[in-house]
Amino acid sequence: MKVLMINGSPHEKGCTYTALSEIKNTLSKEGIDSEILYLGTNAMYGCIACGYCSQNGKCVFDDLVNQVLSKIDEYDALVIGSPVYYAGPSGQLTAFLDRLFYASKGRMAGKLGASIMSCRRGGASATFDRLNKYFTISNMPVVSSQYWNQVHGNTPSEVLQDKEGMQTMRTLAQNLAWLLKCIEEGEKNGITRPKYETKINTNFIR
Ligand SMILES: Cc1cc2nc3c(=O)[nH]c(=O)nc-3n(C[C@H](O)[C@H](O)[C@H](O)COP(=O)(O)O)c2cc1C
Repeated sequence: MKVLMINGSPHEKGCTYTALSEIKNTLSKEGIDSEILYLGTNAMYGCIACGYCSQNGKCVFDDLVNQVLSKIDEYDALVIGSPVYYAGPSGQLTAFLDRLFYASKGRMAGKLGASIMSCRRGGASATFDRLNKYFTISNMPVVSSQYWNQVHGNTPSEVLQDKEGMQTMRTLAQNLAWLLKCIEEGEKNGITRPKYETKINTNFIR
């Protein structure tokens, strides 16, 4: 079992990373492998709605999105982390996720999803809502914790002082590990993933 964590902050080892690392450490104690992917600071293309991905199964921009897509089947869960920017996720993260999810065409289904965010003061709930939308349109069960998955701070050392926030990260990782193990045991006992109907796409009611 393997978890992909995405650090959507331009700070490679900043506050978001500090929260993701707490999850990683707890997952490791639970015997679950994980890796943290840093998106970097280079300009990130947004989706240009060209439709290339529906014909080719990958994005027209051959960058990190396609690298992740090429090995997405290896992961059983996704944890998406973001700093809060103007009460939403970072622009580079949503540019990346729009293309990753749009080009993934059903391949995210059945993976568990969780989002976490770091903020100095406010806007975490709106960010949480926005990030969870990627999971809830992709047949991905969303994993929760004891509180909404936020830590507070402007620096990693401030985040470490947010005792409740850090505990929320550990609890989230425990819940993630528990559900991953339940799914694995279920599959061994014949409880398989749903076989969905062919998707109906209507533009409003037509
Ligand atoms: C452009 C920008 C916008 C921000 N907007 C908010 C905000 O709306 N609310 C907030 O609490 N903090 C805001 N912050 C602060 C960061 O969310 C906060 O410092 C975060 O913990 C940084 O995480 P990082 O070290 O992983 O980048 C903003 C920071 C930047 C650079």
